[in-house]
Amino acid sequence: MIPIARPVLGEEEINAVRQVLQSGQIAQGPKVKEFEEKFAQYIGTKYAVAVSNGTAALQLALIALGVRPGDEVITSPLSFFASASSILLIGAKPVFVDVEERTYNMDPTKIRDAITPKTKAIMVVHLHGHPADMDPILEIAREENLPVLEDAAQAHGAKYKGKMAGSLGDAAAFSFYATKNMTTGEGGMVTTNSEEIAEMVSLLRHHGQTSRYVHKYLGYNMRMTEFQAAIGLVQLKKLDSNNMRRREIAKRYSGELSDLKELILPIEEPWAKHSWHLYAIRTEKDRRDSIISKLRELGVDARPTYPIPLHKQPIMERLNDGNRNFLARIFPSISYANVSLPIAEKLTNELFYIPIYHNLTEKEVSKVIDSVRKVFS
Ligand SMILES: Cc1ncc(COP(=O)(O)O)c(C=O)c1O
Repeated sequence: MIPIARPVLGEEEINAVRQVLQSGQIAQGPKVKEFEEKFAQYIGTKYAVAVSNGTAALQLALIALGVRPGDEVITSPLSFFASASSILLIGAKPVFVDVEERTYNMDPTKIRDAITPKTKAIMVVHLHGHPADMDPILEIAREENLPVLEDAAQAHGAKYKGKMAGSLGDAAAFSFYATKNMTTGEGGMVTTNSEEIAEMVSLLRHHGQTSRYVHKYLGYNMRMTEFQAAIGLVQLKKLDSNNMRRREIAKRYSGELSDLKELILPIEEPWAKHSWHLYAIRTEKDRRDSIISKLRELGVDARPTYPIPLHKQPIMERLNDGNRNFLARIFPSISYANVSLPIAEKLTNELFYIPIYHNLTEKEVSKVIDSVRKVFS
């Protein structure tokens, strides 16, 4: 079976970890600092702060941007759960704005209607690695005096109008989870040009400690280890060439499947550079799951997209369960029962992913293409 993702860690990563083991410094130290400097340089921001995972990066960035319990944060309903849970975990409320049908990212024309006096930030998700249309979003944010956080967990190396994803808003969060375009096993990074945000995130990841055992803020333990940073430094060096290979594979898929009228293939807007984290194909709702089963029978793993939009997740229906949920105190009438986001709801039933990663061989790419064609013949 050709798997849906295949993280590859080679001799260089093994040697980097060995060096950390031999150094005796295994908790956050000089490797983390070096990884932060190199990552900031790559993204083109003044600062990068490493944390334990992408969800922590989102959560700490939101707090550093001033989001507090009772506030609202605008975000996309078509994303991994962390885009909502990072907001909920600090006692704020996600307000979902429907996505548009070309890139599957939040529709900028629908953001204004979602803004209320309680809105404190806009969290933009660059889904699948295709950047969101940032200019209109940044314009609304400027007019409304709202900070913008990019969820760039899937967008390492993606660009918007020539600028790196992760350098476009007030702050951005990256994930280095095992299947991402670059990995540290688990890991995350906040990028920003603001010294104040960088400083707050680095305090919050380390118990809010300003000097040894002195805690000025209520923080967390969300630090990155030296092992993770050592792997990250190696992975970062390979990111551009690995992304280039993903691009070649996407080009073959898009070229050799384009005549299949039952499929809507992913696009790359003229202003965008996709990181091709996921190759998302759209088809009819009634056929999607049987297509996936048939592909698996043919030895190609395929996966449906997030099966439930974020506003329909089971936890979202129980947020005002007073006895069990602290959010019920902050939002006594919180409910998503009447929220309707038709495009995101439709897409959760129509999108699926086929394998895309740098170490897919040409033979494997051909097998994926042949299998998809066979399913439709
Ligand atoms: C869009 C998006 N946001 C946030 C996250 C959370 O990152 P992590 O799994 O590192 O916590 C992920 C990835 O898993 C993601 O895909």
